[in-house]
Amino acid sequence: PGDGYEAWLQYRRTDQGTKLKQYAPYCHIAAVIQDEVMRTAVNELSQGLEAITGHLVDVAETLGESSGILLGIFGASQAIDEAIHADVAGSVRTEGYAIQFDGRTEQIAIGAADSAGLLYGVFHLLRIMAAGGDVKSLNRVENPVNSLRMINQWDNMDGSVERGYAGSSIFYHDNRVAKEYQRIQDYARLLASCGINAIAINNVNVHRVESRLLTDFLPDVTKLAAIFRQYAIKLYLSINYASPMELGGLATADPQNPSVREWWREAAAKVYEAIPDFGGFLVKADSEHRPGPFTYGRDHADGANMLAEAVKPYGGVVIWRCFVYNCKQDWRDRSTDRARAAYDHFRPLDGRFLDNVILQIKNGPIDFQVREPVSPLIGAMPHTNQMIEFQIAQEYTGQQRHVCYLVPQWKEVLDFDTYLQEEGTPVKRIVDGTVHGNPCNGFAAVSNIGSDANWTGHLLAQANLFGYGRLAWNPELSAEEIAKEWIRLTFGSREPLFQTIYDILMNSWEIYESYTTPLGVGFMVNPDHHYGPNVEGYEYSPWGTYHYADNHGVGVDRTTATGTGYTSQYADANKQRYESLATCPDELLLFFHHVPYTHKLHSGKTVIQHIYDTHFEGAERAGQLLAVWERMREQLDEQAYRQVADRLEEQAEHAKEWRDRINTYFYRRSGIPDEQGRTIY
Ligand code: GCU
Repeated sequence: PGDGYEAWLQYRRTDQGTKLKQYAPYCHIAAVIQDEVMRTAVNELSQGLEAITGHLVDVAETLGESSGILLGIFGASQAIDEAIHADVAGSVRTEGYAIQFDGRTEQIAIGAADSAGLLYGVFHLLRIMAAGGDVKSLNRVENPVNSLRMINQWDNMDGSVERGYAGSSIFYHDNRVAKEYQRIQDYARLLASCGINAIAINNVNVHRVESRLLTDFLPDVTKLAAIFRQYAIKLYLSINYASPMELGGLATADPQNPSVREWWREAAAKVYEAIPDFGGFLVKADSEHRPGPFTYGRDHADGANMLAEAVKPYGGVVIWRCFVYNCKQDWRDRSTDRARAAYDHFRPLDGRFLDNVILQIKNGPIDFQVREPVSPLIGAMPHTNQMIEFQIAQEYTGQQRHVCYLVPQWKEVLDFDTYLQEEGTPVKRIVDGTVHGNPCNGFAAVSNIGSDANWTGHLLAQANLFGYGRLAWNPELSAEEIAKEWIRLTFGSREPLFQTIYDILMNSWEIYESYTTPLGVGFMVNPDHHYGPNVEGYEYSPWGTYHYADNHGVGVDRTTATGTGYTSQYADANKQRYESLATCPDELLLFFHHVPYTHKLHSGKTVIQHIYDTHFEGAERAGQLLAVWERMREQLDEQAYRQVADRLEEQAEHAKEWRDRINTYFYRRSGIPDEQGRTIY
């Protein structure tokens, strides 16, 4: 049990290890099963209830006078229509649900407009019960804020996972689709339980073998689609833009070429014949050496629309990534700014994409760094569907060896006011579709799971997967609430364990940031694998990732007045704020400005002293994480204790390495000693 496999669905964690008898009266379920998702909902509920209460659960078509739980679709279940008032039912939308307790009958009713809504309602109820919560005050309607709540697997068919930090792929090995269907189903279950409804099952970098998921491997993909379908999750494939050449033997992949268009139409027809509810294609094109329409003098709209036409007859969508930049930049060229690239490429194309194309935009303009501003492309294309892309996998945030709870970072992004319409136009309102009224919207994120028994390598990294799903469902939830919910379900609510884990999570991003790259400058990591400090690892490289540190100062001048002009991609209020040293927030200073080491921050410290102080403090705080965890040993299952202790030990050591590399580098460059005379090498 301590291996973490059941994650937040353990249902066995009660504070004293006793079953929760208070819920025994609800061990009767009434439902008329209409489809497989509803069957899943009923199964989940009855298994969950049995685990929580220790009582057997019976499932019947009606409850009669008995207490229990009633599940039904509005309009199809008379019992649910009687239990839930029509006004309430009327406010439940696709995938939403109403859940309420009736004190007279002692019945809990979960009503929905579709079976997916019932499944989410069931998981809602189980979350409450598993945490020992109050079901008698239940009376609410929940609708997902975002219609697309997607996970992107960066899994390759050789079994590796690009930027995977939790073992190998659960989907593939040896260039075949893995037949470990139970594991995949358990994953589907975890995803559905926190609200995910879509998954792209292969890496956005599609190699020759994965291109064939669309063709030879289609029967296997069909099986996987069936597993996810049970949990109301739609399956998508990442495609290779050059497939008409690589698979079809054509001489070109030009989107305007009639044979190419025909090739894609046929490919789509075959996929939909096998998988009628197939979601669509995810595309990384003309990015980091991937093929795309540029080769043929076409643009991204031409490229995306061709695919969109192919899937349109079946209700499919094309998700087109905006991670497009020059990855062969000459580091001597200071006029090209990678941060500008997505906006410069895509913004002029607004209005040209078909309505079943969605642009997928990374949260920041560079690449999932520990700190970046929000991508200015988000919201800047009012006539185009857009979704945001996060990275749950901790590529640049400690690779699941360091603890880094990312929900606070995502919340900052979602709450960021773009000012694109007026004050009060936050990112979350753009990606949920309300600002521009576009039909397709939502969230995507790179998964952090693999074949490790606990899914995520670092047990505490499970909180990021859970948190992502919860936030995609409702971006109004706070990072604090989500952390508490996750801890209660995973570790129980005994003190001081509960508060200890809560503090670890809530401080973890700040701690990680403080001993790694300072003040928003980013990319001081080892090339390729991106783990560990290397201040100049990317300084003279073609990837467009520079900090320009010299003996006078550090940072990238992205102002419009004297720099790359990146600031002008924001609405005026933000542009002004970032443009001026007087108003640019400290944490992003070096992202926007090149300043001398003696520049004074708003905090009153100089840049150089800030670097020293945060690095000494950060490494010390990382060490304390281990110390507090060690004090929790008694309260924890030994296996769970060890798993986290080992990682925290590595983090504590590695944080010192970071501290010393960064401090030493800047001390040697600037020649300015630490005011407090601490050891710098
Ligand atoms: C990053 C990451 C790559 C990935 C790319 C992407 O650059 O390091 O592994 O392929 O992002 O998002 O496409």
